Amino acid sequence: MYLQRRNRILRKTAAIRAMVAETLLTPQDFIVPLFIDEGKGQQHEISSMPGYFRRSIDGTVKEVKELWGLGIRSVLLFIKCRDELKDNTGKEAWNPNGLMQTSIRAIKDAVPEIVVMTDVALDPYSSYGHDGIVENGEIVNDPTVAALVRMSLSHADAGADFVAPSDMMDGRIGAIRQGLEENGFTQTGIMAYSAKYASCFYGPFRDALDSAPGFGDKKTYQMDYANRLEAVKEAQMDVEEGADIVMVKPALPYLDIIREVKNAVEVPVSAYNISGEYAMIKAAARMGWINEEKAILETLTSIKRAGADLIATYFAKDAAKLLNI
Ligand code: PBG
Repeated sequence: MYLQRRNRILRKTAAIRAMVAETLLTPQDFIVPLFIDEGKGQQHEISSMPGYFRRSIDGTVKEVKELWGLGIRSVLLFIKCRDELKDNTGKEAWNPNGLMQTSIRAIKDAVPEIVVMTDVALDPYSSYGHDGIVENGEIVNDPTVAALVRMSLSHADAGADFVAPSDMMDGRIGAIRQGLEENGFTQTGIMAYSAKYASCFYGPFRDALDSAPGFGDKKTYQMDYANRLEAVKEAQMDVEEGADIVMVKPALPYLDIIREVKNAVEVPVSAYNISGEYAMIKAAARMGWINEEKAILETLTSIKRAGADLIATYFAKDAAKLLNI
């Protein structure tokens, strides 16, 4: 048999495959979501996220040092707010001595070089479990944006490198950028959750922070998963309004959207490999149905191949260890 081209030549040995691999995963690609709780010496495994923990600040700081040592360069902070502090204004979100603000300072003190990103949305602080202020059963846009600006400013003041609005209100990126500028925070970045879909895969995360919506769902602000062009519009508008990084979330059921956004904007694109995606791999591995380590690396590589420059993932530490071998 005569063949002009034999594609298997480039697959012949591990060395050749490594030479021609188009996508290379590194620990620097990862953003590590961290769940933070009050108290001291607290460590709580999230039931629907086996192997993942919510920790008090002391344990979180220890974890961050370890992550830095593994080559990871960035963390994304989420806090669990005590029920008594929740209300419909979200005002605990900009308490200068709140759990988030204290955590930012503690992490920056311990590992000054690590890039600290913070979740900006009202849901952990909302008595309704919604990402915005509720009036007559409706999540009202503009008053929520004003609250998100206050929240962002207080994170910037505590030392956050990037604020990461995950709420999907209209106009919040422009308003936050203006707020940062007017208050002298000219070095603070914005990672916008630009295309955040109303997804069933957020379930385990809501267990982690006890932040499930008290009524209804999030479909009047998070995107309809049937839509593709809308994601491009959202990302482009966020860039115009001043986003430094745009995000697509979730990641795995939305690889097409990651590529679409990557082709449409000229800022780095991140993707959030979310809690439900983590839980699915963990569950299948526990059943002995898939090889966990291989599933982690294949999944994360696919997200990067789709176009993500950065990946927020609960597998970051495991993956960094696998990649560092
Ligand atoms: C809320 C927020 C959610 C996640 C990050 N920020 C959940 C939601 O929108 O209900 C989900 C992350 C995950 O599932 O891993 N602002």
